[in-house]
Amino acid sequence: MRLSRKGFLALGLVSALFALPACSKDANQGGGGGADKVEVFSWWAGPGEKEGLEAMIADFKTKNPSIAFDNAAIAGGAGTNAKTVLASRLQANNPPDSYQVHAGLELQSDIKAGYVEDITYLYDREGWKSKFPSGLIDAITLDGKIYSVPVNIHRSNLMFFIPGNLQKWGIAAPPKTWAEFLTQAEALKTKNVTALSIGPGWTQKHLLENVLLGELGVDKYKGLWNGSTDWKGTDVAAALNTYVKVLSYSDLASAAADWQPAGDKVIDGTAAYNVMGDWQAGYFNGAKALTFKTGWDVVASPGSEGVYNFLSDSFTLPKGAPHKAAAEKWLIECASPAGQDAFNPQKGSVPARTDTDKSKYTGYLAGALTEWTNPSTKIVGSLAHGVVANNAWNGEIDSALGLFVQDKDVAKFANAVATAYASTKG
Ligand code: GAL
Repeated sequence: MRLSRKGFLALGLVSALFALPACSKDANQGGGGGADKVEVFSWWAGPGEKEGLEAMIADFKTKNPSIAFDNAAIAGGAGTNAKTVLASRLQANNPPDSYQVHAGLELQSDIKAGYVEDITYLYDREGWKSKFPSGLIDAITLDGKIYSVPVNIHRSNLMFFIPGNLQKWGIAAPPKTWAEFLTQAEALKTKNVTALSIGPGWTQKHLLENVLLGELGVDKYKGLWNGSTDWKGTDVAAALNTYVKVLSYSDLASAAADWQPAGDKVIDGTAAYNVMGDWQAGYFNGAKALTFKTGWDVVASPGSEGVYNFLSDSFTLPKGAPHKAAAEKWLIECASPAGQDAFNPQKGSVPARTDTDKSKYTGYLAGALTEWTNPSTKIVGSLAHGVVANNAWNGEIDSALGLFVQDKDVAKFANAVATAYASTKG
């Protein structure tokens, strides 16, 4: 199995998951049969997000012609807008029939809140348990019960660039370390080129996790999320100082509105690099119609070669879903090889299932699939996309980071994150 229980144990994820208490909230009583319609909630409404979802919906409609599909996607990268709307709907016992959530501690927070149904019966009935990596199943399981269906695996630690632009600026190759990035950034500055494009808060957190990964290495990075790496230690302070320097070569003062416009700045040559997940690959290939290698290219973010900083999008059956029977059909679509192979090639992700059609993954994705399935690839989990921190801690990190990018006070930020870890851990 390519993503083993051992791998996830090493990630420190499983123990963190099993430390969470069991569900407390009773089921919303509203759930019914409802096979005529399905409302699916996600944040895949923008370019580079919606095409994959639409491809999976098209396959669903072919297989379920009698079910009306309500695509309730709310635009906004990393679900920033969607998550706010969803939270108020869940609190008001007004759930959609299925919603997008990240595998890992983000899902665990919803399980703990009692928002999602145990769907182990679907795994048993449909024979899914052996179709997904066991470590991934662990990330969607609590107390032996499974709570969502993963559709993909994305990679967070990537640095995108346009080969022709680098050549024009006299850069022979993208940086392999953050120190090298800073040297290149200084040279780019003299040419009036921003070294790194950035977007809203969540993209700043996305950059942070990958600077920490590149500077601290795999083991210390993992330790940040399970308490074994001291946030207030000197090595973390040094990595946070690097983050401050990296940001100083970004366009933070005129940050893009979302990840796509941050990618656009790389394409049009106002910025040299963008650190983003491989949904950017889906956007460059699809909406921007650029060709991999000649039109755009990507490397592991500095210092993280051979590491897959993963995240996984999954879909749930909320308690009280008004159209439970139709929601089950949607989950069956999400789990199916056809659904995953319709969705992922457009989304820029590799399939969560282990047995789909590899020939569908070409260009960037052929390499990504090889790397994901290579047993020597080191796997770590993303902070910004819900794997390694529960919602409470992640929210506190957001607030602290919002201040940190302004005041650049490393000790204050490290202290705030460490304090919040202690007060939010389950
Ligand atoms: C992530 C999500 C990806 C992609 C990205 C940008 O959180 O897992 O699938 O949608 O946000 O919006």
